[in-house]
Amino acid sequence: MTLRTILTFPDPLLRRKAHPVITFDNALQKFVDDMAETMYDAPGIGLAATQIGDPRQVIVVDISKGKEQKEFMPLINPKIISNEGRQIDEEGCLSVPELTSNVKRFKKIVVSYQDLQGEELELEAEDRFAVVLQHEIDHLYGILFLDHLSPLKRQLYKKKIKKMHPNGEGPP
Ligand code: NI
Repeated sequence: MTLRTILTFPDPLLRRKAHPVITFDNALQKFVDDMAETMYDAPGIGLAATQIGDPRQVIVVDISKGKEQKEFMPLINPKIISNEGRQIDEEGCLSVPELTSNVKRFKKIVVSYQDLQGEELELEAEDRFAVVLQHEIDHLYGILFLDHLSPLKRQLYKKKIKKMHPNGEGPP
């Protein structure tokens, strides 16, 4: 397993749209292992391939935080196929350091995806799990939780980042 570097805002690669995985092989398994290691090391409860500069539609999640049993789950080619209701919950992102904010999301979603063998599956998620999935799937479309905030909040964050990195270089 290899620890990957997590890209941070405003890296332009975070804006790239991911493309579907068509080959389900050992290399994909290895890639997902890298994503797991990177997510747990951060530590985070979700990670999208986009965040480590890879253009594939792959996300990994584990919202078992604090519980004894890990609930690691990779989702390949995930898509939200239906939604219901609204909720507001606080979000943060490994690619958007030093910012958390309330974001409005669907309360309940159904997601279609494939597992590591390429089998097509569906799952229903609600509350916090639904938030995490919507956040990670957004990444695959080049969308950050920042984009869901008011223009003012977004502007303030951009200014803060500029101050932290006056010469335009990314964080170390
Ligand atoms: Ni994120």
